[in-house]
Amino acid sequence: MYNLKIFPAVPEDHFKTIKDKFANGKIVSDSEFDSIYPKHLSEISKYQWSPVEVILEAAIFLAEDRNAKILDVGSGCGKFCHVGALFRKSEFYGVEERFHLYEEASRISKKLGLNSNLFLHANMKDIDWSPYDSFYLFNPFYEHITNKNSIDETIPKKVSQFFAYIEIVKRKLFSLKSGTKVATYNSFGGKMPFGYKRVKLDKRFESELEFWVKE
Ligand SMILES: C[S@@+](CC[C@H](N)C(=O)[O-])C[C@H]1O[C@@H](n2cnc3c(N)ncnc32)[C@H](O)[C@@H]1O
Repeated sequence: MYNLKIFPAVPEDHFKTIKDKFANGKIVSDSEFDSIYPKHLSEISKYQWSPVEVILEAAIFLAEDRNAKILDVGSGCGKFCHVGALFRKSEFYGVEERFHLYEEASRISKKLGLNSNLFLHANMKDIDWSPYDSFYLFNPFYEHITNKNSIDETIPKKVSQFFAYIEIVKRKLFSLKSGTKVATYNSFGGKMPFGYKRVKLDKRFESELEFWVKE
């Protein structure tokens, strides 16, 4: 559906500038970070991709153990994993059902010098969540219950699908090992399953950032 060639290429030295800023502990704004993505993706960042500051906070929690494997459920163009991996050098993975977003996320990983195999092209319901220690969810299924600020029309939107996905996420989270960490931004759409304790609620951002640990 998208022909990336019609968008002007991001200058190579821009990726280096971003990498160097992270390496030197400098602040990178959302507009600066978003500019590494093609225009049609950076334009929807405000609604669809997590803010840099939110990602940094979540990464401090989720990647506290540097060996932790972290999964972004519905990873979009990869912003959470890209920022997380530049900041924490842990293993950030993403699963994304839209092929063009998966492709873009992998392409940008290479440009940033990150492992390009961080992303899976799949529906989150079809993959095994047990290899991961920590999870991040930015309200991934919300598009099924709203018509506003949609990414694209490549996914059929159904209210019933929203509720079905919430139940699947709850079942998957419930079955994970004790000590599993979850960060939600603007929730995941449902209530956390039994056994998860909220250890922090951060209200400084546009939406609530919540941290959970499985007991
Ligand atoms: C709000 S965006 C969040 C993107 C990214 N996690 C971030 O925080 O920047 C939600 C993403 O979830 C993806 N998504 C929705 N349902 C999904 C599913 N069932 N399996 C995999 N990805 C899904 C959408 O295509 C979209 O890219």
